[in-house]
Order: sequence, then C-alpha cells, then structure tokens
Amino acid sequence: MNFCMGFYISPRFLDKLAIHITKNFMQLPEVNVPLILGIHGRKGEGKSFQCELVFERMGIEPVCMSGGELESPDAGDPARLIRMRYREAAELIRVRGKMCILLINDLDAGAGRVDAGTQYTVNTQLVNATLMNIADNPTNVQLPGSYDMTPIHRVPIIVTGNDFSTLYAPLVRDGRMDKFYWEPDRDDRLGIVSGIFAADGLSNWELEQLVDMFSDRSIDFFSALRSRLYDEQVRQFINQVGLERISMRLLNSTEAPPEFRRPNFDLQTLKHFGHLMMEESQHLQKMRLVDEYMLKPSH
Ligand SMILES: *[C@@H]1O[C@H](CO)[C@@H](O)[C@H](O)[C@H]1NC(C)=O
Ligand SMILES: *[C@@H]1O[C@H](CO)[C@@H](O)[C@H](O)[C@H]1NC(C)=O
Repeated sequence: MNFCMGFYISPRFLDKLAIHITKNFMQLPEVNVPLILGIHGRKGEGKSFQCELVFERMGIEPVCMSGGELESPDAGDPARLIRMRYREAAELIRVRGKMCILLINDLDAGAGRVDAGTQYTVNTQLVNATLMNIADNPTNVQLPGSYDMTPIHRVPIIVTGNDFSTLYAPLVRDGRMDKFYWEPDRDDRLGIVSGIFAADGLSNWELEQLVDMFSDRSIDFFSALRSRLYDEQVRQFINQVGLERISMRLLNSTEAPPEFRRPNFDLQTLKHFGHLMMEESQHLQKMRLVDEYMLKPSH
C-alpha cells in the first residue's frame, strides 16, 4: 500500500495527480495538456487531504486558496486574486527550480448556485472566465492595471469541489480541464479509516467491521466519530471545573492542562456513538428539507 507520513494514499488518486502535474512540466510532441485538473465528488471524502499527501510525497509546496476566500467580501476582485496567486506560484518555480502548483479548494462551495437552473453568482462567472483565460494563456497571466512582457512559468492548477459538470462545462469541454471523480472504494476507505484510528489499537478485523457498518457515510464521519468518543470526558471536565471557570482554567491558569485517558474504542462503543450521530444527521436533513421547501418560490 501507498503511505505518506503514516497516512494512506489511494493509488488511483496518486496516479491521477502525479501524471497531471508531471505532464504539465514536460514538452510532449503534439499533445495538448490541460492546465487544470478538477477533482470532484461528495463532500467530506478527503479530497484535500489526499492532495496534501501526494504533494508531500512529490516534495511540492502548493500555493493554496479556497472557494470561500474568493467569495469573501474582503477578497476584492476574485479574478485578481487568482491571477496574483498563479503568478506567485510561477515565481516560486523560477526562483526555487522546483515544481509548484496552484490549489483551489472547494471551488464550488462558496460559489453557490442561485437556482437549479442557469443562474450563477457573479463571482462564479468571474472565476470561470479567469480560469478559462489562464488555461488559454498559461505563460501570460497579467494583473489588472499592469503589463509584464516577460513570459512566466506554466503552473498546473488543481481545483476541488462537489460537482463541476454544469458549472464549468466549457472549461471541461474544450480540453482546458481534466476531471477526476473521487469516490473512495472499500480499500480506500479502509486505508483512510485505519489512519484516523491509527493510535487506538483497533485490529484489522474491527476496522473492516467499522467501515462496513457505516458504508454509506463519508470519510469525515469517521473523524467525527473518533472525536465524539471524547465528549463524555470533556463533559465531566466541564462539570468538575464549572462552566463559569472553564475559559480561565484553559487559557489563563498556571495549572497543567487537563489530561484525558484514552476512551474505549471497542466496536460496541463505536457502533453506539455512530448510530447516535446518524440520528442527529437525519434530524438535520429533515430541517434542511423543510428550509428548502419554504424557500421555494411559489408558482
Ligand atoms: C464560463 O465562461 C465562458 C467564457 O467566458 C462562457 O462561455 C460560459 O458560459 C461561462 N460559464 C459559466 C457557468 O459561467
Ligand atoms: C489572567 O487572570 C488574572 C486574574 O483574573 C488577570 O488579572 C489577568 O489579566 C489575566 N491574564 C490575561 C492574559 O488576561
């Protein structure tokens, strides 16, 4: 199996990223290499983390940004921001003589669709147009209001998100963007979940049971489950210190930080808390459906 810093890397994921990045730094005869790789798939399946592991393996320090950052009112012009970061990455390649890439996480998260139809937020259109533009002229990326004649280095771009199929259709269609649908299979899930519970002494058999028990949950569910097992001890600690004093006890006190014993990670306990969490998420789902119903414009 493929590992990096003790964490599992999916072979398919590694292969796709490594080839995309490497191709962008090569001259292949008469081959049009897309500049952008779009990794899409369900939320919470560890796309960003798998990316980080691949970069680590390849010794690449990416220039990162997120869709949320592009949506923020402080961000200013998202087109400018993307161009600036792209140029930054190109400069790093030149100065360090090393590969660098531009990573845009959750591209479609902030850029919410107004309606299921064709209306997008202004920023989405700007981001779309900017990416198109960069993909067409990867060595000539200008900041608004200045012009630099010297060509810059080509920088492969990796974007992650839930679904690019409709949002960035023209980008994909014309070979500017390659797509990779990430859906971890059972082996991937087993590998990743083993990493999450690495310190907790579960046997392979128990890990398999756990993964199969919650086979429809995303990878994030398992991290949340692990964290959830500590809640009981945190609750006890709060009771013992007092809610009024908890802030001071943790942030302004000469006492040593509290120590927690390792909770019980047996299968029975994991199953119990896992089911509790599923019930809670079902409540959330119900409320979301109600919200959507209320927001729907009447005809
Ligand atoms: C993206 O930009 C291209 C070119 O500017 C345009 O043809 C296309 O409709 C845009 N798509 C979206 C979803 O904004
Ligand atoms: C810590 O608490 C003491 C006593 O209440 C207070 O005087 C002091 O300003 C606090 N320290 C900080 C860094 O706030």
